[in-house]
Parts: sequence; C-alpha cells; structure tokens
Amino acid sequence: MKFFLDTANVDDIKRYAQLGLVDGVTTNPTLVSKEGRDFETVVKEITTIVSGPVSAEVTGTTYEEMVAQAHDIAKWADNIVVKIPMTEAGLRAVKTLSEEGIKTNVTLIFSVAQGLLAAKAGATYISPFLGRLDDIGGSGIELVADLRDVLDNYGFKTEIIAASVRGADHVKQAALAGSDIATIPAKVFGKLWSHPLTDKGLASFAADWEAFQAQQK
Ligand code: E4P
Repeated sequence: MKFFLDTANVDDIKRYAQLGLVDGVTTNPTLVSKEGRDFETVVKEITTIVSGPVSAEVTGTTYEEMVAQAHDIAKWADNIVVKIPMTEAGLRAVKTLSEEGIKTNVTLIFSVAQGLLAAKAGATYISPFLGRLDDIGGSGIELVADLRDVLDNYGFKTEIIAASVRGADHVKQAALAGSDIATIPAKVFGKLWSHPLTDKGLASFAADWEAFQAQQK
C-alpha cells in the first residue's frame, strides 16, 4: 500500500519524507488556505520535496475553467496530478485531460457510481472520502471495498486513494479492503508507529537494563 500525506504543510512533509515511506502528497483548497501562502508557490515547493505524485486541485466549476486551470497546474512540475471535483463538468474535464495525458485525481467520491464514472472518464486516481461518509452514517470502508471489486471487475487501471482518513483504524481497514493508497493527515501519520504497549515495553526494558548495569558495578 502506498502512503500519501494529506497536507500542504511543507515542514510536516519534509519531516515525514525523511522516513522514506511517503509516496506522494494530496492537497485541497482548504489545506492550502490553512498555510496562508500562494497556491502555486506552495505546490511547487511540495513537488521538490517528494518525487511521487502531488495533487493540486482546480477551483473553477465549469468545464472550460477546470481544463484551463488544469493546463496551467500541470505545467508546474512533472509529478503534478490535477485534482478535479466529482461533478458533470468535472467528469468531462477528466475525459479531456486524460486524453491529453494529464494525470487526474477525482475528489469527493461518495458512491460506487461516482467512482465508476470517474474511472471510465480516465481518472488516474479516485478519492473516496472515508471519514466524511462515516460522519453521515455511511461506511467509507465498504465504499472502498466495493470500488476495489468494481475496478477489478472491469480491469480499470485507476488507483483508489482512501481519503478523509481519521485514524490508524481507517488505514488498516483501507489496506484490508485493497485500497491502492491511503492519504493521511500529518497528525494521523505521526501516530501510526505508536502503541502504548510499545512504550510500556521500552520503559520496562530500560528499567531492567539499568538495574542489571547497577548489579554489575
Ligand atoms: C484528500 O484528497 C482530501 O482532500 C482529504 O482527505 C479530505 O479530508 P477531510 O475530510 O479530513 O477534510
């Protein structure tokens, strides 16, 4: 499974990229606006920190606006993926962009039908939103599992990015459901290697070692 960081914060990206386990980055207008920096500047900086795909989202709502913005964004770096919202105009834009060889990530996917349409339009990635679907009583994980089956049934190459990830359990469930990728907020990513029993075990190893050292004197 590939891990993307779901953030536009370059300090977090630099920190976790050092682990060698970050395969890409996803951003959205909310995440970029939190940084208080120019969109193009921040995205270009991210593309220099990670060599994998970096998603940057269009803000236009018409087909013409999305395609024009996508053409601009796609020129920012070789590892750019243009994020397009799941709308009628968005689907049309994805079809055009995929025919032009521009990589796309269709965002705000909440149903299998949406995912299937995006894949058929030629999306490189689709992003089902787990947490937001769970929040309204749905099952983000069931959606990922269903999308996995449907994409496999028809041999689509489109990759599933489990998005709106809220915790380690989402990462586990997304992996079990066969998601290609999980895009993980920095705060969640930074907790993935922690477990209270690891901390407890380390503390007892250290205490036992100290006692043993004292006996040797
Ligand atoms: C990823 O591409 C999405 O923008 C992101 O995962 C949204 O997550 P949220 O529901 O935590 O805002």
